[in-house]
Amino acid sequence: METEPLRYQRLAEDLGGLIASGALRPGERLPSVRRLASDRRLSVSTVVQALRSLEDRGLVEARPQSGFFVRHATAGRGEPRVRSTPEKAVPVDVSQRLVRILQAGAQPGVAPLAAALPAPGLLPLAGLQRLYAGVARRHPRLLEGGSHIHMDEPALVRQLVRLSLGWGGPLAAEEFVVTNSCTEALGLCLRAVTQPGDTVAVESPAYYLMLQLLETLGLKALEIPTDPRTGISVEALDLATRGGRVAACLLVPNASNPLGSVMPDEHKRRLARLTAERGVAVIEDDLYGDLHFGRTRPWPIKAFDVAGNVMLCSSFSKSLSPALRIGFVAAGRYRPQIALQKTLTSGGTNPITQHVLAEYLESGAYDRHLRGLRRCYENQVDALRAAVARHFPAATRFTQPQGGFVLWVELPEEIDTTALYERAIAAGVAFVPGELFSPSGIYRNCLRLNGGNPMTAEIEDAVRRLGALVGG
Ligand SMILES: Cc1ncc(COP(=O)(O)O)c(C=O)c1O
Repeated sequence: METEPLRYQRLAEDLGGLIASGALRPGERLPSVRRLASDRRLSVSTVVQALRSLEDRGLVEARPQSGFFVRHATAGRGEPRVRSTPEKAVPVDVSQRLVRILQAGAQPGVAPLAAALPAPGLLPLAGLQRLYAGVARRHPRLLEGGSHIHMDEPALVRQLVRLSLGWGGPLAAEEFVVTNSCTEALGLCLRAVTQPGDTVAVESPAYYLMLQLLETLGLKALEIPTDPRTGISVEALDLATRGGRVAACLLVPNASNPLGSVMPDEHKRRLARLTAERGVAVIEDDLYGDLHFGRTRPWPIKAFDVAGNVMLCSSFSKSLSPALRIGFVAAGRYRPQIALQKTLTSGGTNPITQHVLAEYLESGAYDRHLRGLRRCYENQVDALRAAVARHFPAATRFTQPQGGFVLWVELPEEIDTTALYERAIAAGVAFVPGELFSPSGIYRNCLRLNGGNPMTAEIEDAVRRLGALVGG
């Protein structure tokens, strides 16, 4: 005798049918649980059961705090695995290769899949242009000269304090130092809390520019295993920081580069407590915190700082324009050292740009802009994942970033992406080889792709050519 499908199964079948027919397309958000429950006269738990069964079949995916989305045809592709890392800290030597690779990737005619840069069309450039012209006209004194005592424009610091309400703050105005970019902020922090020869704990894989900074400052890197979803392993960091051999921890807790991982709050809280107890300084890079895909902005580790031990660095390079070169550090108890380092390194930061940014933030345009930008980045990353799934070998694994716009791809063991690089450039495609993300070179079969551009036929074709080189 045929039995009636259960109510959750009927809903799952209906939604599955809409996905199969294309009425619900890859990347689209399903109606909310509450909406489905009310429309179908079902309980919330029955709807959730239906959605979970679609998730088990790989048809939809739950995104933290955003709801359920139709998956791209990437079902069955695993995420990269957490790698074990060397127990010892090692000197870093990536700079020379990095410069060559980024230069080759920036040649005209090469598809822009290497440097993590947003497409100019996504940035509010016309509004910034107007502000530059207006600020220069209205505030002629800004061109009169700088001060080595008062380097930060109070108008900007006020806006940063206001933004910090969304970071589990507010932070005190006195904590901030305005910098030329996030990179400068990271360098100042490292100089303030380390001596050459010291060991700094980093994520594995780590953003290559951080490794470059360690190299130029004569610091050793200790790679800590990092999960593609939940970020750095706090347990491994706990073990690594016993015995006082780690001076600082340098990491990207929100939408890390290259994994796109976001540390859960509980991990951030444990990390803040543990490092405070051990006297390990924390330098966090929150550049991608505003570019989260979940509904709420993830807090930085700074939100859990109890000892003034955490230095929060960021900039507006990925959200407004890489050309602004304005960043900041909320420096906790290290502020005096960092302000001194800033004076010695570059003096103040361009006051006109500080005012432009302050006025932009004050106008309320930033929140509106971010809402659209986050959707664009999320769709672009989804489309890039789908293109990699279509064109790369079946054994390829790739991340499911929770923010930002880079994709980390793990290829079969035998592929060496450093060797692949020359051939890819000759074929007009750039990427960043995995070896640059680890001082011990443990990611030679991985690569990073930039998803900062909308998916076009040209970019799809570049991914196809790269996949063919890999052996897809
Ligand atoms: C994690 C991370 N930090 C810092 C930067 C550089 O930021 P800025 O342009 O402000 O120096 C990047 C750029 O790719 C990045 O991915």
